[in-house]
Amino acid sequence: MAKAKTAYVCGECGAEHAKWQGQCAECGAWNTLAEFVVQPAAKAAAGARGGYAGATDGARITRLASVAAEAERRIATGIGELDRVLGGGLVAGSVVLIGGDPGIGKSTLLLQMLGTLGQRVRGLYVTGEESLAQVASRGQRLGIALEGLEALAETSIERILAEAANAKPEVLIVDSIQTIWTELLTAAPGSVSQVREAAARLVRFAKESGTSVFLVGHVTKEGGIAGPRVLEHMVDAVLYFEGESGSRFRVLRAFKNRFGAVNELGVFAMGDKGLREVPNPSAIFLSAHAQPTAGSAVMVTREGTRPLLVEVQALVDQSSLGNPRRVALGLEQNRLAMLLAVLHRHGGAAVYDQDVFVNVVGGIRVQETAADLPVLLAVLSSFRDKPLPDKTVAFGEVGLSGEIRPVPNGEERLREAATHGFRRAIVPKANAPKKSHVGELEIIAVERLAQALQAARE
Ligand code: TYD
Ligand code: MG
Repeated sequence: MAKAKTAYVCGECGAEHAKWQGQCAECGAWNTLAEFVVQPAAKAAAGARGGYAGATDGARITRLASVAAEAERRIATGIGELDRVLGGGLVAGSVVLIGGDPGIGKSTLLLQMLGTLGQRVRGLYVTGEESLAQVASRGQRLGIALEGLEALAETSIERILAEAANAKPEVLIVDSIQTIWTELLTAAPGSVSQVREAAARLVRFAKESGTSVFLVGHVTKEGGIAGPRVLEHMVDAVLYFEGESGSRFRVLRAFKNRFGAVNELGVFAMGDKGLREVPNPSAIFLSAHAQPTAGSAVMVTREGTRPLLVEVQALVDQSSLGNPRRVALGLEQNRLAMLLAVLHRHGGAAVYDQDVFVNVVGGIRVQETAADLPVLLAVLSSFRDKPLPDKTVAFGEVGLSGEIRPVPNGEERLREAATHGFRRAIVPKANAPKKSHVGELEIIAVERLAQALQAARE
């Protein structure tokens, strides 16, 4: 039998090296190489087809038309917000990675999902972190009917796969991938090579058996899923579970999804009976100010497939530092710096000697450029200490030459704002409908930043 070969894999980019070295030759990251044993093909094929050397039994060329006829099989989880983020339910044979900070509710969400799948779908919950007693008592507290549910407290990938091959579940949950290890490697559980190997085996199991696999992953301080980046490439979908500390709201976001839209959001509230869906989340991202407040602007964002009203807050204050601070929470830092430069040049407001803090309420992250205009309105409002007119929303991208650019799905955003009782909307001209009103909502179309700032002052 061929001897096992050792390779060194970079935890950042997944590049393979024959020898250990301090710096990855591919991505330049320091001290990220970890040992990884490549199994010889013979042993891998005989065993559980371990490693990535596992030979397939001769694939055949097939006409795609005949494959497409077998549409992907979807299972509705019964949790609407989760189904939405998955792109319309679980796909058979798919692998979904759920990442998030400890204590955010990953285990709770998946256990509740098993509960709603209940009798319809056979599920297996593999726990590497908690004892079976802990899982059972949590299930009881969540009010889940435990009769139909099966669990396994195990961390060895070989034994997990053996059990799963026996039990033939339709949904397999592995909580968490960082605790799973293989006998084939000497590295410690949680190390890059162990996590990568365990995930590769589970991916292969999912594809071969048609089981839907959920992997729970911890998040590092930098916000990525601990373990190699390649983990994100290996799976079909990567979901992040996020929330502000102290807030009971949790946002599930699709970061990558081979079967649905990315940036789709699912919103939950954590209570004493576990996670509850928030099907109409617009209201929770608006703080209830009794009267208009300086430094606050409401935007209509459209992350994923539905519009959402979100409040952006800014605090602009005289800086005592030579290098004033620019802090953006829920937005990209560089974008804020750029917007402030545009505000100076094309809006006539000089904030270079001011500290600028911008926060998106509710712990949600806005990645689209539609936030540009509301951010600047909030900043200027705080700078001048003058609230925006009551019941005003805004959205639009701001260009470097001070032009206001359109964003996708303008009409849908306007309808959402109208539904929630807003009276005025400051929007890019190209997004404005022909009529001057959408319901009770008055549309103010702007082409230049100066126009938008003028409109917000009235
Ligand atoms: P958990 O699902 O264990 O988080 P993760 O698996 O992401 O680490 O969630 C644990 C947290 O959720 C814990 O802080 C307690 C809280 N929680 C509730 O508030 N209500 C509940 O019904 C449950 C089960 C947990
Ligand atoms: Mg957990």
